[in-house]
Amino acid sequence: MAEIGTDILKAKALLENGELVAIPTETVYGLAGNALQPEAVAKIFKVKERPEFDPLIVHVPNFDHVQKYAAEIPAGAALLAKHFWPGPLTLLLKKKDIIPDLVTSGLDTVGLRCPDHALTRELLSSLGFPLAAPSANPFGYVSPTRPAHVNDQLGQKIPYILDGGPCGVGIESTIVGFEKNVPVVYRMGGLSVEAIESVVGKIILQAYSSSNPKTPGQLKSHYAPGHKVVIGKIEELLRRYPTQTCGLLTFQKNYHFPYQYVLSPSGTLEEAAQNLFTALREFDKMPIDIILSEPVPDQGLGRAINDRIRRAAATDTP
Ligand code: TXA
Ligand code: MG
Repeated sequence: MAEIGTDILKAKALLENGELVAIPTETVYGLAGNALQPEAVAKIFKVKERPEFDPLIVHVPNFDHVQKYAAEIPAGAALLAKHFWPGPLTLLLKKKDIIPDLVTSGLDTVGLRCPDHALTRELLSSLGFPLAAPSANPFGYVSPTRPAHVNDQLGQKIPYILDGGPCGVGIESTIVGFEKNVPVVYRMGGLSVEAIESVVGKIILQAYSSSNPKTPGQLKSHYAPGHKVVIGKIEELLRRYPTQTCGLLTFQKNYHFPYQYVLSPSGTLEEAAQNLFTALREFDKMPIDIILSEPVPDQGLGRAINDRIRRAAATDTP
């Protein structure tokens, strides 16, 4: 095996010392700490200013590790992991006692995920514990998909960012739990519902309920950027807001507007997902009053992208 890089060794030493490190994954950057050490987990909540009722995902190097942390593994979970791990899929499974209650906010399930990023998998394999990691942004803000995004907001608060370049998928993992062995999708994400159904058959989609959310990521306004966002047909929205300085967020069409972001010049949902959170962050730096956004095609990854745009546009806080 090739020698471990100095960047991974640095991350490893900090994590073994109970410190936090921002880690790259294929979805978004995570704010990682030792999942088995309550003091390290408490630091995550503190740095992120995240309420302790919102549980963390635990990252493992491969499926073999799941049995150490999960008390029950439904056949559907094993099948999904076999097909899609490493990858943008989080499985909610009954937890074993070794997982501290702080990680799961007292719930009896733990979210487990094996991320598809070479650096982070090497790091995970080199550690004697799994990593609890929420997205590496202050609570309630857009997730980071580049090291600079993490540095902008958390650079002063954490000792190290493991630089793995821009995230290849760009939106968070799909969260799947099981009720009476039937798969339930609680958060749409980087793995499409269609892909999941092709392996385990019909799923239940519970991603939109906003009252008393089982998964607090369901809070509608969770992805709020700095400006008001409205969704619709761009031409109609431009007529509705004639006096505002508008930023345009479009799928493929270029309106040659001073403030705009085309999510995918080549017209693919993969490219749109990669660019979405960078676009929302770019708008925050622009002198605009409002973001006018059109939905992307509502299929595959597009459903998760539209979900995030809708949440960015939501203003209610349940
Ligand atoms: O792609 C991702 O999932 C990224 C990367 C870093 O892995 N992580 C991420 O974490 O998005 P976070 O904390 O920003 O979002 C995780 C969501 C939260 O909404 C949390 O409420 C939910 O997962 N969650 C975690 N454990 C849960 C559990 N046991 N039951 C219900 N929801 C859970
Ligand atoms: Mg998050």
